Amino acid sequence: MENFSLSGVYEVGNELLDAQHKVILNYMAKVYTYLLADKKDDDLFGLINRLDTCCKLHFLDEEKFMEEMELPETEEHKAQHALFVTHLENFMGRYEESDSVKNIGELVFLKGWFLEHIEVFDKRYAEFKKRFDMAVHESTRQAALKNSTTK
Ligand SMILES: [Fe+2]
Ligand SMILES: [Fe+2]
Repeated sequence: MENFSLSGVYEVGNELLDAQHKVILNYMAKVYTYLLADKKDDDLFGLINRLDTCCKLHFLDEEKFMEEMELPETEEHKAQHALFVTHLENFMGRYEESDSVKNIGELVFLKGWFLEHIEVFDKRYAEFKKRFDMAVHESTRQAALKNSTTK
């Protein structure tokens, strides 16, 4: 049985983005349950569509967040998102082939890819944000210090 839960090590320190990661994993878990039970109906189709929408919205939010911080490797990160969307769309196009074993394999691949992406790419903006906040904090402190000594 596959595990779709997200432990603390995957946290990126942004409430919205962390919540979205969890929602995406939850949708993957639901789709997985349907595929295991070999259920192919409108509910499954709806779930897959919601998974697709959630992923795309999440990527847009994440890309906006990185652009606002002017993260140097934003373009590389965006290319990874685009690659995932391609895999997801292939999966969506294929699940109707009704080969459950193959579809389960694809979904497990998507999950693995997603987790690794958080670990490798999303963690980079998390680190960058931490350093960014520390630098802002330090310059505010220095300015306050300068102010108090010049008075
Ligand atoms: Fe990402
Ligand atoms: Fe992400």
